[in-house]
Amino acid sequence: MLEKRIITKSSQETFDFGKSLGEAIDFPLIVFLQGDMGAGKTLFCKGFVAGMGIDDEVTSPTYTIVNEYGNPPGIFHFDLYRLKDSQELYEMGFEDYLNQGCTLLLEWPDLIGENNFEPRLEIELKSQIDTPDEREIVLKTNNEKVAQRLNSL
Ligand SMILES: Nc1ncnc2c1ncn2[C@@H]1O[C@H](COP(=O)(O)OP(=O)(O)O)[C@@H](O)[C@H]1O
Ligand SMILES: [Mg+2]
Repeated sequence: MLEKRIITKSSQETFDFGKSLGEAIDFPLIVFLQGDMGAGKTLFCKGFVAGMGIDDEVTSPTYTIVNEYGNPPGIFHFDLYRLKDSQELYEMGFEDYLNQGCTLLLEWPDLIGENNFEPRLEIELKSQIDTPDEREIVLKTNNEKVAQRLNSL
């Protein structure tokens, strides 16, 4: 298990960190993004997508639930906040998204529960009231290839 912590001091730094990770990852990855509203999950995704060399506009999939980026799609970006339970997720074809060999970015992933998706990276973004432009980003993975890439950043 690798755990890595970084601090970003601005929105730009979080974007840049997402971007450098997107550049480092050259295989399909499942990213679980934890953190409160406004923590920077979507901003991180913007950077990540840019880092993968996809210049599509990245917006929050709050209402669409899933956005696709790239042509053919290289990334599916989910925001599961509005879903009631995992049944809703599977009814919208989550299995098919998983099986396409694309990278998945998942905001509000809790309803997925225990899972064995691989390779997987879990990211938590934390903010504190007294430092509004700062985020602590904690990254965890059990996957050796992902750990290697994180260590190379
Ligand atoms: N260091 C930082 N990292 C990320 N976002 C930051 C940071 N400092 C301030 N912000 C602001 O916090 C907000 C994050 O929004 P967003 O990425 O949509 O959050 P989430 O998707 O987690 O709800 C943006 O308005 C961003 O400008
Ligand atoms: Mg968001």
